[in-house]
Amino acid sequence: MRWLNSLAAKFAPLAFVVMACVAAAQFLSQHSPDRTHLDRYTNAVSMSLHDHAWAVFAVAASLWLVTFAGFFHDRHRSKNSSVKKEGWLMDALDRLTNRRVLEQKLAQEPEPQIIDAEKLADSLKSKVIGQDAVCEDMAAQIRRRLALRQRNKPVGVFILAGPPGTGKTYLAKCLAAELERRLLHFDMTQFSSGAHAATQLFGASKGYVGSNTYGKLTAALRDTPDAVVLLDEIEKAHPEIHKNFLTAWNDGFVTEASDGRQISTTRAIFVLTTNAATDDLQALSATYANDADELRRASTNALREAGFAPEVLNRIDRIFVFKSLSGLDIARVAALEIEAMIKSYGLDVADEGIDPDILLDMMRRQQRLGSGASSRDLVRAVEESLADTLIDAKQHGHSKVALLAAEGGVIARPER
Ligand SMILES: Nc1ncnc2c1ncn2[C@@H]1O[C@H](COP(=O)(O)OP(=O)(O)OP(=O)(O)O)[C@@H](O)[C@H]1O
Ligand SMILES: [Mg+2]
Repeated sequence: MRWLNSLAAKFAPLAFVVMACVAAAQFLSQHSPDRTHLDRYTNAVSMSLHDHAWAVFAVAASLWLVTFAGFFHDRHRSKNSSVKKEGWLMDALDRLTNRRVLEQKLAQEPEPQIIDAEKLADSLKSKVIGQDAVCEDMAAQIRRRLALRQRNKPVGVFILAGPPGTGKTYLAKCLAAELERRLLHFDMTQFSSGAHAATQLFGASKGYVGSNTYGKLTAALRDTPDAVVLLDEIEKAHPEIHKNFLTAWNDGFVTEASDGRQISTTRAIFVLTTNAATDDLQALSATYANDADELRRASTNALREAGFAPEVLNRIDRIFVFKSLSGLDIARVAALEIEAMIKSYGLDVADEGIDPDILLDMMRRQQRLGSGASSRDLVRAVEESLADTLIDAKQHGHSKVALLAAEGGVIARPER
C-alpha cells in the first residue's frame, strides 16, 4: 500500500490545479459579461474539461483520500511504536524497514568467538584470591561455549555458590570486566514479591501501571544483548521469579510484557550467586573433587533440598563451589577490602601502612566466627571506628593514612 500512498501524494497537488482550472473556466464562462472575449481564452480548457468535470473530480477526490489515509496510518503507527521516544533515526527504520525483525535478527546472531582460556583464568586468579579452581573451570567453560557456532541458549548459566565474602559477586564483576561486557547487576533480594517483581524485571502488560516502559531486565538486554547478567543472591527472589527466567535459559529469549516482544538471551552470560546449602556443597566438592559428574549430581540435589525448583536446576550449566578463605588468603582479602574502604574516602593507604596486628586480629576473628562471617563485616566494623578520622584527614589535605592497632581497636595516622 505504501507505493499507492506515495503515488497519490505526488499527484494530489496536480489534481488540485486541474480542479481549480475547471472551476475557474466554468465560472468565467458563465459569469463574464463579455462571453465572446473570454470564451477565446477559456474555451480550450473549458471545452476539454467541462464534459469530464465529474470524472476529474472523482480522480482528484480519490487521490486526496488515499493521501490522507496514508498520513493518518503513519501517525497511528508512530504513536504505537515502542521506541517513539528514540528519535528520528529509529522512526526512519520504522518507516523504511521492519525494525523489529532487523533488531531481533541482529541480536540472535551469536558470533563464534575464540578466547584464550588460560589468559582469562590467569587474570581472574590474579584478582579473585583463593578460588583458582573456580577461575580455571569458568574460563574453560566460557571458552567452549563462546566458540559454538550454533547456539539457541545463553552462552552460559552458572551458579556461584559458597560462604559470604569469598568473592562470588566479585568474580562476576571481574568476568564482565575481563570479557569487556556490560555487567547487569540485579540484587535479587529486591524481587522477593512475585507479581510486582516480575513487572519490574519483565515489564507490565498493556493497560497496567508501568506498561509504558520496558522492564529493567528486558530493557537492558534489548540494549546490550551480550551482557553478563548477575542475579545476585538468587535464592532470595520469589520462586515465581526463578521460573520467569526459564525461557531465558531454555529457549533463548525473554518476553517483554508491555508489547510481547521477544528479546534474545543467546549472547548473554547469566551468573547467579547464592549462599544456599553452603556447608553441604563444600563437603561435596571435597568428597567428589575428582568426579565431576557425581559432584554435579550431588550439588544439584543439595540445591534442590535448599529450595531451588528442579526445572530451574535443570537449566543450570554449571555449579561452581567457592571455598572458605583460609590462612594468608583471609589477610589478603581483608587488606584489599581495607584499601578499597580507605580509597572510598579519597585517600590512599601509606606504603606498608596496615599494621600486621590488624590483619592478624581479623584472621583470628574470622576463623572463630566460621564460614558465616565475611571479612567485609569485619572491615565495616573497622570503618565505623575510623570514619571521622578519615574525613578529618582528607579535610586537612592529607593524601595517605597508616592504620595502627591500638588498645581496643584501630587508629588512623594521616600522612602526606
Ligand atoms: N576471593 C576474593 N578475592 C579478592 N577479593 C575478595 C575475595 N572475596 C571477597 N573479596 C573482597 O570482598 C568484597 C566482597 O566480596 P563479594 O561481594 O564478592 O563476596 P560474596 O562471596 O559475594 O559474599 P556474599 O555471599 O555475602 O554476597 C569484594 O568486593 C572484594 O573486595
Ligand atoms: Mg555477593
